Amino acid sequence: MTTPSAFQTELAAIAAATNATLDQLLPPVPGPEGRVVEAMRYAALDGGKRLRPFLTVASSDMFDVPRAQSLRAAAAVEMVHCYSLVHDDLPAMDDDDLRRGRPTVHKKFDEATAILAGDALLTEAFTVLADPATHPDGNVRATLVAELARAAGAAGMVGGQMIDLMAATLSLDDEGLKHLQNLKTGCIIAVGCRLGAVLGGASVGVVEQLGLYGMEMGLAFQIADDVLDVSATAAETGKATGKDAAAGKATFVDRLGLEGARNLAQSLAREAGNRLASFGKKAMLLQEAALFAVNRRN
Ligand code: IPE
Ligand code: IPE
Ligand code: MG
Ligand code: MG
Ligand code: MG
Repeated sequence: MTTPSAFQTELAAIAAATNATLDQLLPPVPGPEGRVVEAMRYAALDGGKRLRPFLTVASSDMFDVPRAQSLRAAAAVEMVHCYSLVHDDLPAMDDDDLRRGRPTVHKKFDEATAILAGDALLTEAFTVLADPATHPDGNVRATLVAELARAAGAAGMVGGQMIDLMAATLSLDDEGLKHLQNLKTGCIIAVGCRLGAVLGGASVGVVEQLGLYGMEMGLAFQIADDVLDVSATAAETGKATGKDAAAGKATFVDRLGLEGARNLAQSLAREAGNRLASFGKKAMLLQEAALFAVNRRN
C-alpha cells in the first residue's frame, strides 16, 4: 500500500469536516415536511469527493480564515453542487438512476421530492452564508451571497445546463463548447475558490486570480469527467458511464478523441496551476488539486 500524499490526507480531512458541518446544518425534522429534509440529507451526506469544499477551505487557509467560517462557506457551495446533481439526474435532464454509488434522489424518493430537495438545498446554502456565524461583517456576507448566486444562476451553472441540454441542436464551435463547460461546471468550482479569498478579506484582484485558477481547473475537471464517461466503469465512478455520446452531449472527447481530450485536460490543469504562481508555497494544496482534477478515476 502506498502512503497517502499530503494532498490526499487533507482532502480526506476536509471531506470529513464538511460531512460533519452538513450533518449539523441539515438536521432531520419531524412532521410531513421532514420528508424533503430526509431527501436533502440523502443528497448531501455520505459520498462525493468533496472537491469544492476542499477548494473553499484550502483557499481560505491561505488567508488564515478560521475553519469554523470556511467550513460553513464550503458546506454552502457543496449544497449548491448537490442540488445541481439532484436536478441533473432527473428524467427531464440526464435521466440517471445511479449517483455516488446509490440510487439517485428521484429513484430513492420520487421526482417531485427530488425537485423540492434540490430547491431547498439551493436556498439553504444562502441561509448558511447570510448567517453571522459565517462572517461577522455583513458586507462580507453580502458579497459571499452575491458571488454564489451569480455562479449558480443563469449566468453560471443553470445557464450552462441550459446550453448542455440544447447542445445537440446548436453545432457549437470549440469556444462555444468551452463556454458551456465553463458555465455548467467552472463557475461553481471557481466560486468555491473565490469565497475563500472573500472570507479572507483579499483584494478584488486576488479574488479574480483565484477565480481564474478555479475556472480553468473546472474546465479541466469537466473534460476529465467526459473522459471518464467513456473510459471508466460505473463501479469506479458510482454513476452510469458511456452515456454522453448516446445522449448527444457536446464534449471535447467527441471532438478531439480520447487522447486529445486527455491532453487538453492535462494542459488546462497545468495552466490553472500557473495562475497560482504569485501565492508561492501557500498554494501547494491547490496546485495538487488541479492535478487531482484530471488524474482521478472517479
Ligand atoms: C460531478 O461532480 C458533476 C460534474 C461537474 C462533472 P463531481 O465529480 O465532483 O461529483 P461528486 O461530488 O464527487 O459526487
Ligand atoms: C453536470 O455535468 C454538471 C452539473 C452542473 C451538475 P454531467 O451531467 O456531465 O455530470 P454527471 O456526469 O452527471 O456527474
Ligand atoms: Mg448533465
Ligand atoms: Mg449528468
Ligand atoms: Mg458527466
